[in-house]
Amino acid sequence: MLSESPIGVYDSGVGGLSVLRAIRDALPHEPLLYVADSAHVPYGEKTQAFVERRACAIADYFVSQGARAMVVACNTATAAAIALLRKRHPELIIIGVEPAIKPAAHLTHSGVVGVFATTGTLASPKFAALVQREAPEVRILLRPCPEWVRLVEQGVVSGPEAAEAVRAPVAELREAGADVLVLGCTHFPFLRDAIQDAAGPGVPLLETGAPVSRWLRHQLQERGMLVEHGSGSLHLHTTGDAPALARLASQLLGTAMTADTVPDAWRGTSSA
Ligand code: DGL
Repeated sequence: MLSESPIGVYDSGVGGLSVLRAIRDALPHEPLLYVADSAHVPYGEKTQAFVERRACAIADYFVSQGARAMVVACNTATAAAIALLRKRHPELIIIGVEPAIKPAAHLTHSGVVGVFATTGTLASPKFAALVQREAPEVRILLRPCPEWVRLVEQGVVSGPEAAEAVRAPVAELREAGADVLVLGCTHFPFLRDAIQDAAGPGVPLLETGAPVSRWLRHQLQERGMLVEHGSGSLHLHTTGDAPALARLASQLLGTAMTADTVPDAWRGTSSA
């Protein structure tokens, strides 16, 4: 039964919940299984080989859970591993996320776009190809923000600490002429209010949850796999500490959540 086969949504940590939120809005009847690879967060400064190994382990876990589709709700893991995942699981619908460079190139008046993401995303050949393809005429300013990932993982998304953390990076790109800012890491939408305050009210902040949800709907529909009735369900699993994920997810999604731990076989031990 389709309604027993979940859509897997995956991130290094809680960032992908910003994408999950949009998927729930667009596909309210779908059963969702969110996996946070919390034992290995952050991915941003880790090697491509490491992120590939983790992405493969989580994809295998989704398959073991009978998933129909996998949304890689992590720009870093998409950049590092999406091609490998598709090769490994050709039967699975696999959807990735990437920074919203194309809409940013359409929106900018100054011809300068600022991109906040992880070091891994910004250094990837996939990102370079995206910029070359979608925005060859635009000046793209890159700003890795690993400290923002750490803050969101600690549940610090508003207040003086969040405001202080976003102040200098945002000012740097605004002063260099960026009139559109791309939130190229799925953790960053949780800092949206702080970033908007620092950037100024008219500055577009682009994220990708809604377009990814539309694409997921399209892919499911095309294969006759869309679940259109029922109440949907959401399970949270983590390779790390389940009560900690439950607390953080409840805070970020604004609703009480529980979480479980992924079995040892998929948790991994190596680092780097
Ligand atoms: N949320 C992820 C991304 O979109 C990864 C952040 C991290 O683990 O460093 O890139």
